[in-house]
Amino acid sequence: MAQINPSILSADFARLAEEARAVEGADWLHVDVMDNHFVPNLTLGVPVVESLSRATDTPLDCHLMMEDPDRWAPQYVEAGAGSVTFHAEAAGAPVRLAREIRAKGARAAMALKPATPVEPYEDLLPELDMLLVMTVEPGFGGQAFLDIMLPKIRRTRELINKHGLELWLQVDGGVSESTIERCAEAGADVFVAGSAVYGAEDPAQAVRTLRERADRTIASAPWACDHGATAR
Ligand code: DX5
Ligand code: ZN
Repeated sequence: MAQINPSILSADFARLAEEARAVEGADWLHVDVMDNHFVPNLTLGVPVVESLSRATDTPLDCHLMMEDPDRWAPQYVEAGAGSVTFHAEAAGAPVRLAREIRAKGARAAMALKPATPVEPYEDLLPELDMLLVMTVEPGFGGQAFLDIMLPKIRRTRELINKHGLELWLQVDGGVSESTIERCAEAGADVFVAGSAVYGAEDPAQAVRTLRERADRTIASAPWACDHGATAR
């Protein structure tokens, strides 16, 4: 089954609690943390995540676009995140960090920028609950989907199936009604959508439409027949 994670980067930051409620049917709320060093943009930090986790029942999927996640990521678990994603390019000790995130009680995830290959991380995959394949350069919402990432999604799904892992495969960037099926067909099962959800007149309806399209595609995707769609 597909999971749809609206990104609050495209929401109104002055009304975050309300914007979270506007997508209550979503599986997770995707929270983009940017430090203005790892990416050329600045968003929010631990105090906002803390407040947001109290304001919504939807679990928080924190995507940390920051340097030195080894130092900061555990604080996002303490702030109430149900899933914490650090970037492979920024982590000093990704295995130790993933174990620490899990030990603190959250799902551990690792993200790959478009130019970062998945193959060097094959042996690390069992340490993770989710791998995020970025389908734009991280930093901003509303960018065009990078089709050239589809082969990487495909290769990542092959690695997951090869090792029989219960690893979710998330895509983030430019995911919309017109690109979600390509991602699902290639092997993604968790979909972040910012502008496609919050830019829509009815965000809750946008989530339903994205989910329908992804579910329909996954139901007939060869990769899902091998091991069944990942469990929720
Ligand atoms: C970009 C962020 C994304 C962003 C996606 O660096 O990681 O989560 O919000 O926005 P859209 O869906 O508009 O591309
Ligand atoms: Zn993100």
